[in-house]
Parts: sequence; structure tokens; C-alpha cells
Amino acid sequence: MSDTLEVIKTRYACRDFDGSPIPDETLREICYAGLCAPSAMNRQPWRIILVKDKAKVDALDAQGMAKLAATNPTAHKRMMDRGGTLFYNASALVVVAKELDAPIAAELDCGIVTANLVLAAKALAVDSVVHGFAAVVLEGEESAELKQQLGFPEGFDFAIAVLLGYASGEAKAPHTPDLEKFIEVG
Ligand SMILES: Cc1cc2nc3c(=O)[nH]c(=O)nc-3n(C[C@H](O)[C@H](O)[C@H](O)COP(=O)(O)O)c2cc1C
Repeated sequence: MSDTLEVIKTRYACRDFDGSPIPDETLREICYAGLCAPSAMNRQPWRIILVKDKAKVDALDAQGMAKLAATNPTAHKRMMDRGGTLFYNASALVVVAKELDAPIAAELDCGIVTANLVLAAKALAVDSVVHGFAAVVLEGEESAELKQQLGFPEGFDFAIAVLLGYASGEAKAPHTPDLEKFIEVG
């Protein structure tokens, strides 16, 4: 699939991946698309961290589920009901880190990076889900060592993550766009 509008209209949040590997070249292409995102004053207040080793993704998943079980039983139950994993058996994880000292719009800029990532993935036939809940393992004092291992530079913090993989089974329908949320003025 390569038509941009078709890609935008058919992307959906995949929550059941088959775990099969994504070629390195494809992963790099997706991340490169993230780096192409526009940003306020072209400051590019981000880092894009690709975790391409599935064993590492699975280890982070296990760490997150254990943390949820200990700290947030409601969320833990929700994830157990959704299949018992935090990362849905994804093959790769992309972490978008934001620059804390950016004068404006770092969060917004990282959001645009994220849109580029998921749309580039779709264009390359890779399924994805934006994943704020990855914060369970990547936010807070206790994740400092992990962030260092993942290469977070000083002054950067977790913004959002994107899980990548190939859907297990049929593609799902994306959400129905709500036309009530569109205001057209003559
Ligand atoms: C900022 C943000 C954070 C999200 N965090 C999660 C998450 O932690 N776990 C998850 O399963 N989906 C997450 N999603 C996916 C949304 O639930 C999903 O995009 C939404 O339900 C619309 O469905 P669609 O993407 O299939 O159109 C997140 C999406 C966004 C934009």
C-alpha cells in the first residue's frame, strides 16, 4: 500500500501481533519517517529510540506487567483481560523521548513524530499501536537506569511509544471518524 490517503484511512490500533520479525531496513525506514516530522522552529526536540530485539521488548513487557501487578491492580486486570501482555507480542518498540528544556511544543512535536511513525509503518505493511502506557516502565525515578541503557540523553524524558509488528489474523477496522468534530466555515 502506498497511497497516502489510503494509508491514513486504514491505519488502526493493533493489539494482537504475531511476533514475527520486521526487517531492519523496514524499521529504519519507519524511524527515518519519524525524523522527517515538522517541529516548532525546526528544533526537533526529540530522540527516536528503536528497540528492535524482541527478547528485549518481551523483557520490558514482563517488567511492566510485574510493576502493574504490584502498583495498579485495575490496570493489571485490564491488561490481563486484553491477553495478558503490556506490549501485545509486538516485534519492536519505538520510544519517542522529548527534550525537557524545549521552549515550546515539545509534546506536540513528538506527537507529530508519532503520526509519521505509524503512517510510515502502515505504508510499509507493518501494523502498529501508539502506546502511552509504556510509561509504566519508562517514566519516573525508578526507570532512570533503564533509560540510560536505552540511550536516553540527559534532559530527555519519555513522551510516547509505538509498538510495531504484524497483526495476528485479520486487520481490524479503524475508528469511525466523527464528522460532528469537523467545523466548516464558509
Ligand atoms: C497518545 C496515545 C496514547 C495511546 N496509548 C495507548 C495504550 O497505552 N495502549 C493501547 O492499547 N492503545 C493506546 N492508544 C491507541 C488508542 O487507544 C487508539 O488509537 C484509539 O482507540 C483509536 O483507535 P484506532 O487507532 O484504531 O483508530 C493510544 C493512542 C494515543 C494517540
